[in-house]
Amino acid sequence: MSSVQPRALRIAPSILTADFGRLAEAAQAAEEGGADLWHLDVMDGHFVPQMSFGAPVVEAIERATAMPIEVHMMVADPAAQFAALAEAGADTLVFHIEAGGSSDDIAGTLEQAHATGCAAGVAVSPDSGLDLVEPLLASLDEVIVMTVHPGRGGQQMLVEPLEKVRRLRGLVEAAGLDVVLEVDGGVKAHNAHLCVEAGADTLVAGSAVFNPDETPQQALSTLRRVLAGG
Ligand code: DX5
Ligand code: ZN
Repeated sequence: MSSVQPRALRIAPSILTADFGRLAEAAQAAEEGGADLWHLDVMDGHFVPQMSFGAPVVEAIERATAMPIEVHMMVADPAAQFAALAEAGADTLVFHIEAGGSSDDIAGTLEQAHATGCAAGVAVSPDSGLDLVEPLLASLDEVIVMTVHPGRGGQQMLVEPLEKVRRLRGLVEAAGLDVVLEVDGGVKAHNAHLCVEAGADTLVAGSAVFNPDETPQQALSTLRRVLAGG
């Protein structure tokens, strides 16, 4: 039986669909709305076709709010960015197993991420299995299970990858490990419960929080309500 206390459910807004012309304001609205941590999507235009932002925006968010920052690194050479992102204020660095080579390579990259003083984890795209992740579970602080194909905010959630969350939750519990299990992609008020039921303890919410129809405060309050069974 796991001796690790279950984690309280956390909501991690992604800023990809926020108004970048008023980013600090948007960030402060999400903090005011009770978000738990930032999920900042760094994209290099190589690992994914899109580019998003890098260390300067991470630093701007770090200055704008007091929330912890995890950086979701959709980049081809994650180790090259670790120092700059840690310096900019990242607390957790999560890179993709699809950019990481073999299990040994990934273990080495994890070590480099940990050497910055940050927590470190891996992200798994929808078409990838867990065979590269499972041998590393004891060294991971976090696993992000992607429920959209990386590159854009505002996509529909793919539910099949939730099976990976279920499997990881079983492995983590059986081994008594304390690993953040996060779902990233397409999380909305109507499907968030599926992620929690699968065993996720952290939910990324991008367009659910930053959209033209409601304020981040309203969006976060709705998410909390439905997750509380309201
Ligand atoms: C997609 C990113 C996700 C995305 C989430 O590549 O990794 O974090 O921004 O946005 P929504 O919640 O709108 O899918
Ligand atoms: Zn992400």
